[in-house]
Amino acid sequence: MGEYIMNTPCLSIIKYSLFKLCCCLLLAACVQIPVNAFSEDKDAVKTLIIYYSRTGKTKLISETLAKNINADLLEIKDPQDRSGAWGFLKSGLDAFRHIHTPIEPENPDISPYSVIIIATPIWSWNVSTPIHTLFQKNRFDGKKLILITTANIHIMKYEKFGDDASFIKRYLKGYLRDKRKAALNEVINSGGEFIGHYHFETQKQTDEQLIEETLKCVDYVKGKVS
Ligand SMILES: Cc1cc2nc3c(=O)[nH]c(=O)nc-3n(C[C@H](O)[C@H](O)[C@H](O)COP(=O)(O)O)c2cc1C
Repeated sequence: MGEYIMNTPCLSIIKYSLFKLCCCLLLAACVQIPVNAFSEDKDAVKTLIIYYSRTGKTKLISETLAKNINADLLEIKDPQDRSGAWGFLKSGLDAFRHIHTPIEPENPDISPYSVIIIATPIWSWNVSTPIHTLFQKNRFDGKKLILITTANIHIMKYEKFGDDASFIKRYLKGYLRDKRKAALNEVINSGGEFIGHYHFETQKQTDEQLIEETLKCVDYVKGKVS
């Protein structure tokens, strides 16, 4: 009797119906995934990382960060030759004397973004000259800003020179010890709201160590923008 049922047209119909049901479920799942992804994307915070890098460390950090937080990436280029010992000396003097420099692009389109991460090496106890020019030439009104600095040393120890101003002001005031008022004002008065600062000590760090530190920075940034 059982064998009879197994071979009847009735069983074929059941099998066919099951097959159709599986196909429908699969199709529904395929349609559902992009729909959900889209609705999540719609509300996602759009983040842009703008960086300058002379010797590649800030570049590596910015690229790693961009991949891990799904941010767009923009490199600021300085057409001047800053390579070698002469380039080092010139850059140090430019930052020390707070000189500006041509940058490309001069006015990046930041309009689609609500969070801007600006990553820069420290030059002569100052943010690098191309990034200072970026602050001078652009307004960040209405944007949330996170500053990323890279330097040989752990600059946060200068925080103790701060007052009860916002931490970015404390950082710059402490780090520059009031000696670079023009530089300080350019950053502070650029219109953005600083919501975070992360510093990388890069001296003697391998690429792998910098990437490892960047993954900690990923958590920091996610915590700030969530
Ligand atoms: C001109 C110049 C000045 C620098 N001044 C400082 C400084 O004042 N303090 C510091 O800790 N590191 C200083 N550094 C080291 C850089 O900040 C550090 O190596 C940085 O991570 C390099 O980043 P990059 O590879 O993206 O250019 C200086 C480097 C240069 C080229």
